[in-house]
Amino acid sequence: MEKDSPCYRHFHLLIYLLSITAGVSKSTIEPCSGSDSCPALLGYTLYADLKLSEVAALFHVDPLAVLASNAFDPSFPDVADRILPAGLLLRVPTRCSCADGIRRSLSARYRTRPGDTLASIAGSVFGGLATPDQIREANGIPDPAALEVGRTLVVPLPCACFNLSDNFLPAIYLSYVVRAGDSVPSIAAMYSTTVTDIMNVNSLGSTAAINPGDVLVIPLPACPSRFSNYASDFGMIVANGTYAITADNCVQCSCGPGNLNLYCTPASLSVSCSSMQCRSSSLIVGNITTKSTGAGCNVTSCNYSGFVNGSIVTKLTKSLQPRCPVQPQLPSLTPPPTTLMRDLFLAPTPLPLPPEAGGALPTPKPSPPKSPVSGELALPGVSPATGPDATAMVGGSASSMNRKEAILIFCSALSLLLAFALPSSDTSILLH
Ligand SMILES: *[C@@H]1O[C@H](CO)[C@@H](O)[C@H](O)[C@H]1NC(C)=O
Ligand SMILES: *[C@@H]1O[C@H](CO)[C@@H](O)[C@H](O)[C@H]1NC(C)=O
Ligand SMILES: *[C@@H]1O[C@H](CO)[C@@H](O)[C@H](O)[C@H]1NC(C)=O
Ligand SMILES: *[C@@H]1O[C@H](CO)[C@@H](O)[C@H](O)[C@H]1NC(C)=O
Ligand SMILES: *[C@@H]1O[C@H](CO)[C@@H](O)[C@H](O)[C@H]1NC(C)=O
Ligand SMILES: *[C@@H]1O[C@H](CO)[C@@H](O)[C@H](O)[C@H]1NC(C)=O
Repeated sequence: MEKDSPCYRHFHLLIYLLSITAGVSKSTIEPCSGSDSCPALLGYTLYADLKLSEVAALFHVDPLAVLASNAFDPSFPDVADRILPAGLLLRVPTRCSCADGIRRSLSARYRTRPGDTLASIAGSVFGGLATPDQIREANGIPDPAALEVGRTLVVPLPCACFNLSDNFLPAIYLSYVVRAGDSVPSIAAMYSTTVTDIMNVNSLGSTAAINPGDVLVIPLPACPSRFSNYASDFGMIVANGTYAITADNCVQCSCGPGNLNLYCTPASLSVSCSSMQCRSSSLIVGNITTKSTGAGCNVTSCNYSGFVNGSIVTKLTKSLQPRCPVQPQLPSLTPPPTTLMRDLFLAPTPLPLPPEAGGALPTPKPSPPKSPVSGELALPGVSPATGPDATAMVGGSASSMNRKEAILIFCSALSLLLAFALPSSDTSILLH
């Protein structure tokens, strides 16, 4: 957006308003007790062009886990160094702990830099997932105006598990920050779920009123694992259309699209792995053999059943089924995108991009990247030059229309927000 356009000022005003109203936006929270933790996802919109490894470090997760949650191809060359575009909406895996009686993700750390404010950290760097007040409270900051540079802050993030089920079916919950222009139907469409489901889970009531900055939780159908509770990956759950890497990067477990049975195979990352063969058979993890007999189909499968004491546990399962099963389908994987496409905002995962011209053939990385500690990151700043731009804020549709239209829509959304959102923001806390 041109600096002299009338909307430019408003854009910064919007960011400001979003950050000052963030403290009073609605947020669905889950009460909890005890000290268990559970898996969840964060919907994170990049505030600047960031490497995948930088996103991972910001949230203190393994870059491979970010790849997996977004169905990005892990064998893509130098995948962790790939620069993702500002405005991209990613899924970041996290774990929810139970703090002060509510579910929260407490693993994100951020080291303050000159020019940072609690509002810029919460609203921009963490994409509105945190609020300035939550950061202030979590770190006991007496005077937010005097934020020390170089201090490492805990950034509490929204998180919900709701027993990892939705309508009695396995589900993983994604915390989603409502953007300008979103409606419950548009969010439901984006995540292939229903309006009713989003309304019920978030106790939205009949009006379904949502405002930019509100945090909703979206249930995503998922494949649960049934590993024994000695396994270090006990409780793993994978959202439909994505995968997870486990067992020291040796095993890749996928979910969907055909059915919601977790399907694990050897991962194609070249790390050295112990044997994945099932005892007293020639089958390895993921192999399924079928043999038609008069009585039906004799199915033998070699299944992964968890990572126990550093070794891969396998189990040979034999069953007689009425019909022979088809080979499991795997989710389609894509290279991480380098540009914002309109479709990214309509589909939960990016559509396949054409391979880059002259691009090298995918070669497995010798050893997958490990997440560095976020404190030492050189992240881009939150100045107007590197902050989110209007194209990103109008939800990607800018690429399919001209700038004028985009700015117009953006400004209308802005005036709507100014007219309604502020006075009507309430402080209610919603329980499931
Ligand atoms: C949680 O889900 C499990 C099955 O997945 C069920 O047995 C249990 O009763 C549920 N607990 C609650 C509190 O809903
Ligand atoms: C899983 O995702 C695929 C598309 O990727 C979709 O066709 C299928 O209906 C989804 N399954 C469920 C249970 O939502
Ligand atoms: C077992 O799976 C591996 C790859 O995971 C494959 O190369 C091999 O052909 C499969 N063997 C059988 C018998 O299906
Ligand atoms: C083993 O894997 C097959 C194929 O994915 C699946 O149908 C079967 O239910 C699994 N068995 C167990 C015990 O997990
Ligand atoms: C894991 O190893 C420890 C000691 O090395 C042993 O005590 C424990 O029983 C093992 N657990 C399982 C499930 O094999
Ligand atoms: C399946 O076939 C194998 C030999 O191919 C046999 O040993 C086994 O008993 C059969 N299982 C069932 C359930 O029919």
